[in-house]
Amino acid sequence: HERTFVMVKPDAFARGLVGEVVSRLEDRGLKLVGIKVENMPRERAEEHYSEHEDKPFYDDLVDFITSGPVVPMVWEGQDATRQVRQMIGETDPLEAAPGTIRGDYALDLGRNVVHAADHEDDGANEREIAIHFDDDELIDYDQHDAEWLYE
Ligand code: GTP
Ligand code: MG
Repeated sequence: HERTFVMVKPDAFARGLVGEVVSRLEDRGLKLVGIKVENMPRERAEEHYSEHEDKPFYDDLVDFITSGPVVPMVWEGQDATRQVRQMIGETDPLEAAPGTIRGDYALDLGRNVVHAADHEDDGANEREIAIHFDDDELIDYDQHDAEWLYE
């Protein structure tokens, strides 16, 4: 099974939506292997968003993601990256379908609740997991209901 990087952004943290995001991913059957709460250092935020370095909104993006606590997470499961991207919905909440996290909890492109690694960007997961977690922060255990989640 694959691992994917997901992060609750400062807007959602401030709005008390950490549990809601975690709960949806748990309910789906994904396995939580890493989670923490922190204020992201600016240097790490710049690395995290390096793909957007040349975009006009880059500085605002880095300012925002370092403006308050975030909750970086690693979730594991079959097709985890694509499953999570579908659950999160389109980047712009106006385009995000109701029933998706952004479609249910966000209005504005710059305050869209969650980040998730892009499945169309090969290696994004491994890169983002390595940016935000040390190996010993990711734990290994048996998911007790795996036999009911997978054929
Ligand atoms: P993430 O999971 O946060 O990476 O979102 P995404 O992969 O759906 O979008 P993308 O990586 O293209 O953009 C990263 C973040 O930049 C988005 O989540 C938005 O908050 C913000 N963003 C993207 N496009 C724009 C834009 O045109 N203007 C502004 N102001 N912000 C943007
Ligand atoms: Mg992205």
